[in-house]
Amino acid sequence: MHGRPNNAERSGAAARASRAMAASAAWTAALMAPHRDARGAPLDYFLHAGGPAAAPSMHLGWALAALSMSVIAIIALLLVLAIARRRRMPVDARLPQDETVALRWIYAGTGISSVALFAALAYTLVTLDSVAAPSRAPALTLTVTAYDWWWKVDYAEAGGAPAFSVANEIHIPVGTPVKIVLKSADVIHAFWVPQLAGKTQTIPGQINEQWIEADAPGVYRGQCSQFCGAQHAHMAFEVVAQDAAAFDAWRREQAQPAVRVTADALAAHGQELFQARCAGCHTIRGTEANGAQAPDLTHLNSRRLIAAGALTNTPGHQLDWIRHAQRIKPDSLMPSIALTSSEASALSAYLATLH
Ligand code: HEC
Repeated sequence: MHGRPNNAERSGAAARASRAMAASAAWTAALMAPHRDARGAPLDYFLHAGGPAAAPSMHLGWALAALSMSVIAIIALLLVLAIARRRRMPVDARLPQDETVALRWIYAGTGISSVALFAALAYTLVTLDSVAAPSRAPALTLTVTAYDWWWKVDYAEAGGAPAFSVANEIHIPVGTPVKIVLKSADVIHAFWVPQLAGKTQTIPGQINEQWIEADAPGVYRGQCSQFCGAQHAHMAFEVVAQDAAAFDAWRREQAQPAVRVTADALAAHGQELFQARCAGCHTIRGTEANGAQAPDLTHLNSRRLIAAGALTNTPGHQLDWIRHAQRIKPDSLMPSIALTSSEASALSAYLATLH
């Protein structure tokens, strides 16, 4: 049993080793490739900073990672050198002869590690201070309330336009700090847009603050980063950074109530259905629907994603969601709603008017 490995065993071992190497090469390649989820959003976004609230923390992250890796490399190297040195010694010389030499290594190691740790602490404190507040006063303040399992975003009244609220999609102007007032409607969540800032918890009964700023126009993915229940992973959102003119145009449109359905009989039937089956939870401004515990649907079709990032926003996905919310996000606070095919087409025709 314990003899030398025969040829078959050797070739089996070689095959296993080469399979392991191939698997590890595949893993390395997968880790190095930019990660994309189903909708093409990169998942390695925390490795890239998109604004001044995020860049210092990202640099700190890299510096601490580099420090830890070099500590591991130095210790590993010293260990290998020590083993090699001992092996070369005659056996009777291997017992420690003089402890002062060994102690000197310990003193030097402790000294160097303490200096490195204090430097890391100082750098961390400086970084925390530099991201604590923006250098200019925020041009815009938004209130974001976390719900199981979506985000409500309130824009205050501005320039005569009324206040309004949207869900899961936060528009901001580029190149200017935006203050985010964070609340929770139920449990503890955490607001995190890795490319724009560190994470901040939303805590029931407490108001936290955070600021974000985007250097360039684009879509920055955000995610709840505090486990908050069954659909925590499906509690994403997007920050859409736009130049000032595009942002103002968006804001003006969102502040408008929904366009009234008049001519289209199918859509008008859909609106009645909405009023009867959906309005207890959802608001559509400009209609009698004024439910407060679910996303505002006034400009539903202006959003890129629905159900907190779970689906892209297409008419087909909207219907799928309405009929199978409990299959798409089990335990979510929207029930799956049974619709006959004529009800579905009426509701769809109505939802299509919500630009
Ligand atoms: C009991 C309350 C309730 C009822 C009734 C309800 N919904 Fe919802 N709805 C919700 C909640 C809560 C969400 C957010 C779920 C999530 O993302 O986890 C939601 C999400 C949605 C969304 C996605 C919005 C977005 O931007 O993410 C649509 C569209 C929607 N509901 C349509 C409807 C329609 C149409 C009806 C009626 C047929 C309806 N809902 C009935 C509670 C409700």
